[in-house]
Parts: sequence; structure tokens; C-alpha cells
Amino acid sequence: MSYCVRLLCREDVAQVTEIDREAFPTLWPPVNYKHELQNRLAHYLVVCDEEKTVEPVAVQAVPKKGLSLVITRVRELFNQSRFFGNELLSSSRQYILGFTGFWIMADEAHVINIAVRESYRHQGIGELLLISAVDLAAKLKARIITLEVRASNTTAQALYSKYGFAQVGLHRGYYIDNREDAILMSTEAISSASFQSRLQQLKQAHLRKLGIAVYQLA
Ligand SMILES: CC(C)(COP(=O)(O)OP(=O)(O)OC[C@H]1O[C@@H](n2cnc3c(N)ncnc32)[C@H](O)[C@@H]1OP(=O)(O)O)[C@@H](O)C(=O)NCCC(=O)NCCS
Repeated sequence: MSYCVRLLCREDVAQVTEIDREAFPTLWPPVNYKHELQNRLAHYLVVCDEEKTVEPVAVQAVPKKGLSLVITRVRELFNQSRFFGNELLSSSRQYILGFTGFWIMADEAHVINIAVRESYRHQGIGELLLISAVDLAAKLKARIITLEVRASNTTAQALYSKYGFAQVGLHRGYYIDNREDAILMSTEAISSASFQSRLQQLKQAHLRKLGIAVYQLA
């Protein structure tokens, strides 16, 4: 498989929403990824399979009136993004395997979610997403990275621990669906020599394992 890691774009919203619903079925209200794209604090990444494409998903568009209808008609003159009353939500041709996102608040990158399609788990994609998120957070000058994880989610905790996240707190009854506790995890300063040396070692080993010769956030 040939992987590509890049920033989330509008055309990915349908696929990312599908992966989110599969991974977090009880999360309410669900994350609105269209809004997240406009959120200046938010940064999302996707991992795609470069060899697989998807057909665009057409969904019924919300009826437009007044100025927004005029704007839509003008847009239609210049591109093909709307047809027969349906809006093309997923014109992205790449098949998305997983995604992650964080918010930068002050000097902290707080991971909002990380999820991989169920049928593609345990192949190293979650780890690739985490590496990419850490790299992006460093590029954006975050000092530390924090996140909350369900007490029962030992798979995710194992992944975070591997990359130097440690428990720094506990939010009792944090998740409203089942009142489960959240474990609050944090890195040390991500620019520190110890964090970077661990990250670079793990990253090189992981890229080799996935057969990724050239890694760069697109
Ligand atoms: C958490 C999640 C993103 C991991 O994605 P993934 O692609 O399966 O993970 P990877 O294959 O990259 O595995 C990375 C590491 O996770 C841990 N891990 C993965 N599968 C595991 C399992 N079945 N049991 C224990 N640890 C496991 C291991 O530490 C593994 O490292 P290793 O390969 O050196 O042993 C994925 O399970 C998922 O989408 N879960 C549902 C959503 C979710 O819970 N997200 C986390 C919210 S905080």
C-alpha cells in the first residue's frame, strides 16, 4: 500500500465523518468537520491510500434562497461542483484510511480525535497519524501535546505511551454516554532533546516498517 499524509480538506468531510461515526458511535453531539475546517484553532490530518480512489458521494443539498442561491448559481458557471440539486461532498478521489485532529490553545496542542477505519486497524496507520500530528504540532510551535482517553481504551493508551505520553490527571465520569473516566495524558516539552530523540527513533523505524521512503506532510 502507498500512503499519503496531508491536511484535511472540504472534499474529505464525508469520508472523515463516516470514519468518525464508526469509531465514536456514541459521541454526542458528533463533531461537525465542515465547521472544524473553519475553526482557526483546529488542525486535522488524514492518511490516504494513494492506490485506491472513491466515487464522489452526492448528498441532498440544503435548499438555498436569496443571496446564497445567487452565489451558488454564479459558482456553477465556473465549476462543476453542483449538479441536479445534489451537492458533491466527496469529490476527493483519495480513499481515506484514518484521520486525527488537534486544537492549538495557548502553547498546547490538544488532540481531539484519532481514528482508523476498523478494517485497516493494527497495520500501523494510527501510529503514522500520531507521528504526523506530533510533527505538525511541533511545526506550529506547540510546547506540549495533551489528550483525553477512555480508561477502558488500552489500545490507544498503549500507542500514546509508546510516544512518551504519560498520565497527568483523571476526569471522573467525563464521558456522558457511560460516565466512564477519562485519563488525561501529556507529553513533556516536544522540543526537548529526550522527546525528539525518542520520536525520531520510533518514526524512522515505523516509516521503514510501512515502506515509506519519503515522508513529508503534504
Ligand atoms: C486507536 C487507533 C487509532 C489505533 O490505530 P491502529 O491503526 O490500529 O494502531 P497501530 O496499528 O498504528 O498500532 C499502534 C500501537 O497501538 C497499540 N496497539 C494497536 N493495536 C493494539 C491491540 N490490539 N492491543 C494492544 N495494543 C495495540 C500498540 O502499541 C501498537 O504499537 P506496536 O505495533 O508497536 O505494538 C484505532 O484503534 C482506532 O481508530 N480506535 C477507535 C477510535 C479510538 O479509540 N481513538 C482513540 C481515542 S483517544
